Amino acid sequence: MFLGVNIDHIAVLREARKINDPDPLDAVSLVKRAGADQITIHLREDRRHINDYDAKRIIENSQLPVNLECAMDEEIMKKVIELSPHRATIVPEKREEVTTEGGLDVMKNFNNLQTISKKLQKNGTEVSLFIDPNPRAIELSKDIGAQWIELHTGLYSNIYAMLFSNLSYTKHSIKELELPRIELKKLLEKALKELVESTAYANSLGLKVAAGHGLNYQNVKEICKINGIVELNIGQCIIARSVFTGFEKAVVDMLELIKQKNR
Ligand code: PXP
Repeated sequence: MFLGVNIDHIAVLREARKINDPDPLDAVSLVKRAGADQITIHLREDRRHINDYDAKRIIENSQLPVNLECAMDEEIMKKVIELSPHRATIVPEKREEVTTEGGLDVMKNFNNLQTISKKLQKNGTEVSLFIDPNPRAIELSKDIGAQWIELHTGLYSNIYAMLFSNLSYTKHSIKELELPRIELKKLLEKALKELVESTAYANSLGLKVAAGHGLNYQNVKEICKINGIVELNIGQCIIARSVFTGFEKAVVDMLELIKQKNR
């Protein structure tokens, strides 16, 4: 299983002061030195963290493949064509959200996604669609012509947090998951089962499967057991840990968890 390290939150820290440090480009060589496999960045429409200049320098200088997350927006797509990253992961985007909530509506955006997917692939960029783990979304992703899907692990991660974290903040932020433990356990099993079945189904259709969102040093272990997921994209928890341990160590700690399976 490969690890893509999402370095957006380094730019979040920089943007808190609107100065030059920390520079997410400095993380690129450290991700490689730690032994991870890919750099992941999200060029949001509102440029709240990674900006055009970051994306350009990271793509030009990274010795690892760069996975650029982006919305279906016309202006962003022009940029992605110009930047020509190794892979583009198309994600839904709402300006008011704190982070990407839910997967793409592949049914509603089918034609647009198909056009974008063709354009990107013609330009030499692999295409991945960030979707919720359900069979219809997987079939449509295949029909759109994407080579990859990235399964949204947000629901699994939220249920896990409700069950095993006693942070009241987490609990306040997920009202619909304020349920008795027995119910949460059932929901966690169901969410995992959906990820397992979706991976197998996508693989059977010839799609490569990545997963990500909300994964951390605790909840990643169950995800690592899923056969057929070839890559995880993880960001927030690695940057959070790096405040205390240093960035390279935080990446190595995550790699140790996810590569255990391969040893
Ligand atoms: N994958 C996708 C498609 C995402 O949008 C994000 C968040 O930017 C991640 C992975 C990483 O999520 P997290 O920061 O919660 O690890």
